[in-house]
Amino acid sequence: MRVLDRRDLLKSVSLLGAVSYGVPASAKATDRAAPSPAPEAASGPSPREVLSLNKGWRFFEGDIPFPKILGHGWSYANAKAGSAWGAAAAAYDDTEWTNVTLPHDFASFQVPDERENLAQGYRKRGIGWYRNLLKFEESDRGKHIELQLDGISTHATLWLNGTLINRNWSGYNSIYVDITPYLSYGAALNSLVVRVDADAMQGWWYEGAGIYRNTWIVKRHPLHIETDGVFAHPVKTGDQWQIPVEVTLNNTTDRPQSAEIVSSLVDAAGRVVGTCRLTAQIPAMQTGVATGRMNVQNPTLWDIDSPYLYQVRTQLIQQGRILDEVVTPAGFRTQSFDPDKGFFLNDRPVKLKGVCIHQDHAGVGVAVPVGLLEYRLHRLKELGCNAIRCSHNAQDKAFYALCDRMGFLVMDENRVFNPSPIHMAELEWLVRRDRNHPSVILWSVFNEEPMQGTEQGYQMVRRMVAKVKSLDTTRPVTAAMNDGLFTPVNVSQAVDVVGFNYQYQNYDAFHKAHPTLPLTSSEDCSAFMTRGEYKTIKDKHIIASYDDDAADWGTTQRVGWKAIAERPFVAGTFVWTGFDYHGEPTPHQWPSNSSFFGIMDLCGFAKTAFWMRRAMWRSEPVLHLAPHWNWAGQEGQDILVMALHNMDEVELFLNGRSLGRQTGDRYEMNRWSVAYAPGKLSAVGYRGGKVVKRFEVETTGAPVQLKLTPFRPLMKGDGIDAQPFTVEALDAKGRHMPTAQHSVRFTVEGGDIIGLGNGNPNDISREKGDTRALFNGLAQVIVQTREGQSGPLVLKAMAEGLKPATLSIDVQAAQPWPYQAVSESVQITENWRRAPEQAGPPDPHLRPKDNDMNSWGWFRAGVPFPAPDRDMEVLCAVEVEPYARVRKSGGVIECLGLLGPATLYIDGQKVAEKTSDDSAPLSAPFPRGAGKHWVSLIFRARRGQPFGFTDVVRVRA
Ligand code: GAL
Repeated sequence: MRVLDRRDLLKSVSLLGAVSYGVPASAKATDRAAPSPAPEAASGPSPREVLSLNKGWRFFEGDIPFPKILGHGWSYANAKAGSAWGAAAAAYDDTEWTNVTLPHDFASFQVPDERENLAQGYRKRGIGWYRNLLKFEESDRGKHIELQLDGISTHATLWLNGTLINRNWSGYNSIYVDITPYLSYGAALNSLVVRVDADAMQGWWYEGAGIYRNTWIVKRHPLHIETDGVFAHPVKTGDQWQIPVEVTLNNTTDRPQSAEIVSSLVDAAGRVVGTCRLTAQIPAMQTGVATGRMNVQNPTLWDIDSPYLYQVRTQLIQQGRILDEVVTPAGFRTQSFDPDKGFFLNDRPVKLKGVCIHQDHAGVGVAVPVGLLEYRLHRLKELGCNAIRCSHNAQDKAFYALCDRMGFLVMDENRVFNPSPIHMAELEWLVRRDRNHPSVILWSVFNEEPMQGTEQGYQMVRRMVAKVKSLDTTRPVTAAMNDGLFTPVNVSQAVDVVGFNYQYQNYDAFHKAHPTLPLTSSEDCSAFMTRGEYKTIKDKHIIASYDDDAADWGTTQRVGWKAIAERPFVAGTFVWTGFDYHGEPTPHQWPSNSSFFGIMDLCGFAKTAFWMRRAMWRSEPVLHLAPHWNWAGQEGQDILVMALHNMDEVELFLNGRSLGRQTGDRYEMNRWSVAYAPGKLSAVGYRGGKVVKRFEVETTGAPVQLKLTPFRPLMKGDGIDAQPFTVEALDAKGRHMPTAQHSVRFTVEGGDIIGLGNGNPNDISREKGDTRALFNGLAQVIVQTREGQSGPLVLKAMAEGLKPATLSIDVQAAQPWPYQAVSESVQITENWRRAPEQAGPPDPHLRPKDNDMNSWGWFRAGVPFPAPDRDMEVLCAVEVEPYARVRKSGGVIECLGLLGPATLYIDGQKVAEKTSDDSAPLSAPFPRGAGKHWVSLIFRARRGQPFGFTDVVRVRA
């Protein structure tokens, strides 16, 4: 079986037809990415291993209160590393929990509920627990092993083998923990527990719940490049391009180390076109930074229409051996913000035609697979958008890699406005993670903070700006202000570029007052539209799609853009928003549960605003008409027709009869009032008196069939690749039926449905399962492949009274992603005690006194005791509360490796004996029934011979 590579994918992708009513076109070959979600994945002979930890998780929805700590012994142990209790303990019965694969947004499985918060899309969030058991080989001993979680919503507490290893309060940043010191190797299992409190909110939009981004284990040499430790972003000084290279190393060996660092610039064809060599000396258990510089002659520039990407491959070499390697993206481009002329990219003025986005999508909530993310960005490219604001938080790392590759300009935004140490660390993380991406052009430190016009706000921002500058001086810092711009002391005085949220009335006054301060709109419009609806019906929460409605603080799409387009000193726009998102259903409330602001709906289907923006933003001819032409029963009544276009003139026809040729208004667009008659409504667009574009829309017949359209005609059988499919209803002539609302059921062979949507903000049905109603002719089903799969993925859509649609997608065999080894749920006994030496034979009933912290020792089974200097009997014991299955039916206790002769007791009763001197297993039946059991082992140790546990002790059904 041949394994698919990226080139094959590119070759086989074809253009699948034109953009029609809201139905997205399939990906173009050039936009087809097979992005890797992996962090800093190296390609060469690096010993660094990047393993996905997305599998093997067990999940419990709800909280599991910690048991009340009673008694002296427990109180004492509670304060100790390795001794977490309750569901955080290394051993906890999770066998009945739900098996889940990450990314996992547990709120996305909820049905909207009126009692929940509208801001979160009326989805219950709550608390959840995740547990996993990780296996590391003996050969992993000595490596530096890091746990990386890319995003958890929202408050997270993490334990490894019963030791608390992290508390994280941000729902948007990564967590990196060096877990090396806590690990056991070989047969031992390492329990990783994450408690997620998603009732904690950071935003006023849908934030999901759970471990909703990828999770990794990264194994490296103990002398290695730190995570996010390479900064190699090209800069131009005079006529000379250079890459200042900064590499942060970490040495967890037990001695000082010196090493060589070689950073190579690799072009898109894989040729090394520049090199920088550095040396570094790092003391034991320290980090150190090596810096250098690479000169580059005549690089190919990165630009929004030709996003040429290089890579910087940084190798850490010691005595000719590569110890570690990291690959970072590099794009050669200059940028500047001019106070009079706006933004310049590569010395060329580029108006920022941007959108604000949140990260969720229909059906999957915030757990957006990279294939779906790619679809979303592809839709923004089709729109003519060139910039994205990450409102109001960091996105998944795959987002930035895609923006680099597809040519977007990114305003990267920090979530919490607060320069206190914990939040400053979040800001630092953001800049360190994202500063190599050529797409990133601005760092935003906040959005709309009430303290923006105060001295306190100013002082806070000064500190945050200084932090950013200490990490990156190549991009300016901004803040999205919606007030306070003219107070004596305010944040605009502390940033490089002033961000305006909705302050249209102040563009001129501010520019006049501060002619040397560059400014951009950071947020504008907040216009409302319901896709495919052309009459506002307030009590049904339907908003007509003619761009007549906006939030009180906003403007329509057209007014918002005109104000910016006509002012060269305003660098650009970031429209609120590119896509609808769950939550914030302004101006409505229940049952509306997702937003009305999007240029596209929750599925990425085009609203009228899409064509409007496309016409305003793109230079090639655009001509489109709203509404559809299916108004049966309204014959003779006036219908408002709007042409969305960038023409000099537009002429409208109904059934071949001209309804007038109008001079084109590229901001306001053109309107006609047309007495409805079924048939063909068409428009002809002129530039310079010549016809350059035509558009027509016809009254359709009744729907008779369904049609499925994929985003891509090819998928990867890696269990990660996912993509949206559009389903629509067609009439007998194959025309899209814009008013169909049929309930559609899907089946899929060779893949799994991971979410459903239709873009209706008032639909309260579940976004999981296999059924979704069309909303104004369209719905979306998101399908994921299965690992190890190849061959056809067959999707079928069925609706009553319509001919079903069947679509077969080619799934190509793909190299499976390397996964961290994990284990199913098994009870490993923890917190063994060793009794003090006894006079006479030890009693297997013996237990430490509750207040005795000192005479009994603690240990984890797995490592033998040293040889005694005389023969002796040693009592070891542990308390075991068996898991439910054993309680119910009994089980077996397995000592996987005991060295020397030993007798095993349960509750003082002898259950098994081992007489051999060598290391061998010993097992015995474990009784059923509730309660705790005292398990003891008495070793008959011989002088000069090590004895004890060579492996773990487990209890299983
Ligand atoms: C802004 C805010 C956005 C969103 C928007 C809705 O004030 O920054 O997050 O709430 O209003 O109009």
